[in-house]
Amino acid sequence: MEPYADAAVPARTEPEDQNYWWTVDFSLSPGANRAWDEERLLTLGSLSGAIGSELLDEDTSLSLRAHYLGSEELDSLVERLNGLLPSFEGVSLSRCQKTENQSWSTQHLEAFPPLNVGRSLTVMAPWHKNEIGSERIPIYIYPSSAFGTGYHESTRIALELLEDAVKRGDTVLDIGTGTGILFIAALKLGAARAVARDLDPTTLDEVRRNMNLNAINANVCDLSVGNLLNGVTTQANVLTANILLTPNLTMLPDVRRVLKPKGYAVFSGMTDVERGTFLSVLSSSGLTVERELRSGDWWGCRAKRVRG
Ligand SMILES: C[S@@+](CC[C@H](N)C(=O)[O-])C[C@H]1O[C@@H](n2cnc3c(N)ncnc32)[C@H](O)[C@@H]1O
Repeated sequence: MEPYADAAVPARTEPEDQNYWWTVDFSLSPGANRAWDEERLLTLGSLSGAIGSELLDEDTSLSLRAHYLGSEELDSLVERLNGLLPSFEGVSLSRCQKTENQSWSTQHLEAFPPLNVGRSLTVMAPWHKNEIGSERIPIYIYPSSAFGTGYHESTRIALELLEDAVKRGDTVLDIGTGTGILFIAALKLGAARAVARDLDPTTLDEVRRNMNLNAINANVCDLSVGNLLNGVTTQANVLTANILLTPNLTMLPDVRRVLKPKGYAVFSGMTDVERGTFLSVLSSSGLTVERELRSGDWWGCRAKRVRG
């Protein structure tokens, strides 16, 4: 690995004031399945909170170049990224450098035009307010470092599965909330209360900012750092979990405990290849699948709690 181009710890600044960001290259040892490797690298970019990423596809090698906010301290960024790599076999961090004096921030802001999802929702950055008609429900999300801008297939799958599941007055439990996009959508669709958790404490400020943007009263949301359903005592009408296969599987035995009879669970963040593995465990968890959705290689489902 090359030494860091600039190992000085940057002062913490607001994104708007920054004139640099961190550019990190991840390289991959040669593998047999190109499409799967591309997907894994893109997933790493999304899960690591990159504000943008691109695949560098050369004849003999494939790598990912990802960009992170300069407000994150370099040491903690590198530590965080190295902590993710054991889940991405064959991927290593090959280069990390400071990139200065380019209008990344502006390009990044312009890169989030309003996006219609499902029958009624439009996800958009706040600077696009007033760009849609009143017939759609706007979900304002500030694209920053948390996952969940609506631009990833797994989020759109979850939103679409959620749309028909939420009823007026429901309680929604959102595990791995990221930007908060799923529970914010649920509240705007009529839910009365939300319980949202994420393992990553840095997401919570972003969730609060997005709640403000959507005029959501803090009293209706119980937001905390937490690991899956550990310690959750809420009885929810709807559970949402857009995480990867392994955490979704880990959580399954606990889902009935937190879901009211006839409640719905929306699962996303898995690939079509992983569908069979997930469904075989789901069927023994007191849930029945009632709808499946695919987008690209991504797959998700909505399941209903069966009696008992
Ligand atoms: C793919 S993102 C989904 C974000 C958002 N809910 C969406 O649908 O776009 C997964 C989120 O789950 C969080 N996460 C990962 N493992 C978790 C765990 N064991 N418990 C709680 N949250 C977790 C990550 O920090 C990340 O914010």
